[in-house]
Formats: sequence, structure tokens, C-alpha cells
Amino acid sequence: MQHSDTVSKDAENTGTDRRDFLYYATAATGAVVTGAAVWPLIDSMNPSADVTALSSVRVDLADVPLGTRIMVKWHGKPVFIDHRPPERIEMARADDNNPDLIDPATDAERAQRPEWLVVIGVCTHLGCIPLGQEESDPRGDWGGWFCPCHGSHYDTAGRIRKGPAPRNLDLPPYEFTEDTVVTIG
Ligand code: FES
Repeated sequence: MQHSDTVSKDAENTGTDRRDFLYYATAATGAVVTGAAVWPLIDSMNPSADVTALSSVRVDLADVPLGTRIMVKWHGKPVFIDHRPPERIEMARADDNNPDLIDPATDAERAQRPEWLVVIGVCTHLGCIPLGQEESDPRGDWGGWFCPCHGSHYDTAGRIRKGPAPRNLDLPPYEFTEDTVVTIG
């Protein structure tokens, strides 16, 4: 009760405060709704024990078909894992030396194994969860991910190519601890 009183009071102070409040409330709601729509995918990927670990998450990728993207949770953040087919890798590599890259990095610097891209699925602008996990999702002009909050486009290496986001999708610490098992964190 006290919290909502405080919010109302703050929101009434000035028009600017109120607009800011509404803006952030809307952004947060968008992120939650997007996450809710995508989380069931993880449930189907047998995350029960793995995903609950706080310090690290062990993900068996053996059953992830080529071309499929999955999401797991690590330290409360979504992590996208993309099983990239050759054409998606080639698209990323073709732009390794593109002078228009906003946050230059080669595909090899972004992916320890070419066929597996592992990135934190949080837009580096204001933290929305980008779309692109499903084939039917908008993936932006470079075929990676598209953030619907303010229109950032990421390529198939998770590099920012257009929009307000200032940098590439972050990379979590991870290593392949077995041939088809990646441990994040
Ligand atoms: S939060 Fe993604 S473009 Fe603004």
C-alpha cells in the first residue's frame, strides 16, 4: 500500500515524472510478456534440474535440431543458444570485416564453436528480450534477433547492426564440458 502511495505521489509531481513512470512500466510489462511467451520452450528442453543451478547451468544440446534456437536461464537472465546451420554462420562471417559494424567483432570471437552461438538474450539498449527464437518471429534485417521495444536489429552472430542498442548481445562465460554439453557460468 505504501509503495503504491509513493508511486502515485511521485507520478503526480510533474508531467515528466509521470511520463517516465509510465514509460518504464510499459517497458517492463513488455519484457515480462515476451518472456512468458517464450519460457514454455525451455520447459520442453528438460531444464528442471539444470536451470535451477545458481552459479552455473549445464545444458545438454544433443537433442537440439540444427537451425533451432533454445533459451535457458542463467543468473536470472535468458541465454539464447542457436544451433546455427552453415548459411547462418556464413552470413555472420561475411560481415566480419564490415566497416559498418557498430561494435566490431568477428564471428569466431563471438562463437567458441561455429555451430553454437551462445549469447545473453537481453537487448543492450534498455533490456527487453529480443524476438527471433522462433522461425516465425521477426528476426530483423540481418536474420539474427529483433528487439521490438525500440527497433534494434542483431545479426546471426548477435552483433548489433541497427537501432539504438549500443553494443552486441553480451556473451556469458561458458565452455563445452562434454561434446554436446555446454556449461554456462
Ligand atoms: S530495449 Fe531493445 S531497442 Fe530498446
